[in-house]
Amino acid sequence: MNSKFELTLSISCPPAPPSPLPPHLPCPPISPTPLSPYLPYLPKMSPFKVFVTRHLPADLDPLHQIATVEIWPERQPPPYGSLLEKVKGIDGLLCLLTDRIDHHLIEVGVQLKVVSQMAVGYDNIDIPAATARRLPVGHTPGVLTNATADLTWALLMAAARRVVEADQYTRSGQWTTWRPDLLLGPDVTAATLGIVGLGRIGQAVARRARGFDMKILYTSRHPCHPELEASLGAEFVGLDRLLQTSDFVTIHTPLSKETDHLFSTPQFEQMKSTAILINTARGPIVDPDALYNALTKGQIAGAALDVTDPEPIPMDSSLLTLSNLIVTPHIGSASRQARGRMARMAIANLVAGLKGDRLPNCVNPEVYQ
Ligand code: NAP
Ligand code: GLV
Repeated sequence: MNSKFELTLSISCPPAPPSPLPPHLPCPPISPTPLSPYLPYLPKMSPFKVFVTRHLPADLDPLHQIATVEIWPERQPPPYGSLLEKVKGIDGLLCLLTDRIDHHLIEVGVQLKVVSQMAVGYDNIDIPAATARRLPVGHTPGVLTNATADLTWALLMAAARRVVEADQYTRSGQWTTWRPDLLLGPDVTAATLGIVGLGRIGQAVARRARGFDMKILYTSRHPCHPELEASLGAEFVGLDRLLQTSDFVTIHTPLSKETDHLFSTPQFEQMKSTAILINTARGPIVDPDALYNALTKGQIAGAALDVTDPEPIPMDSSLLTLSNLIVTPHIGSASRQARGRMARMAIANLVAGLKGDRLPNCVNPEVYQ
């Protein structure tokens, strides 16, 4: 919204003045003369400035009511240099996982009161640097859990039953007859699923797996509550056992120092040659070179990635030459409803932070201690 429009809004809809304007009177026309009696009641210009790094699928009104809002107009993210410029003199930043919010940027944004990310993962943000200067960081947990679990399931099914290969086979005119050995894959029903990280999304995937009578193994840094394990029918095991016994392995941990390249050659060497790996968490959790070797040497049968390292995957990546790999462009949460909920949650976090209220979904609540 430009500042002219901000001003128009402010003038045409002042908050109800105590007197002499009765509440039923229409808003005054925009002209200097009739305005003058109301001038003492005009709201102050928006006290806050915020920068939003992309157009969002949500109504920004709650934000416009308290802030002057600048939105990055491009479809591509602002380059880091532009973000550095923008962050000077703003009170709030609404960012996406494609924005690098590092120590330097946080330092430059001296006036920042809040950083709100429209994503549940926040590995692109230097959280210790934000916490050190008591800057609350918001994210959007929960509202995208089912959408992401749905995509995970779609990838698992597509990789098992070779849906993408089958579509290409059909379109390229190779379908000449029904064949007993055409495009065979493994059973999903009653197979063993290994879930790495049984958090919100991991649990939602486990619930889907129950419908397929799967045996569910999981690993995390801490075992879950026994009641949760029982309700999901999930058994806690070490990563090694999970890798050695699972027919499908699906990754749902955040990206951290511990999980960076958690999947590399030693892990692929332990997996079944018939196993399929699904990654809808973060690209760098899987070492792409090791994955390429595993897929070409037959250490594992297939893989499906919604996230890659780097993103987007370079068009000359050797991974893209493999027919036993599916790659989608980081669309885990891409249902219309989930993206709307994420945007609204990110706006709510931003508004709370500007007002000095506790963020409803804060990554670093230590800032309030
Ligand atoms: P969550 O509820 O925090 O779950 C993460 C789980 O990972 C927790 O159960 C945690 O349990 C476990 N974990 C953390 N570090 C671990 C480690 N070193 N080894 C094994 N387990 C570990 O998060 P979520 O909402 O499910 O989201 C998970 C991740 O999915 C996000 O961080 C994001 O990167 C990704 N994501 C991707 C998309 C997409 O579009 N593809 C969409 C949404 C989310 P312990 O603490 O007990 O270890
Ligand atoms: C998407 O990847 C998210 O973290 O929300």
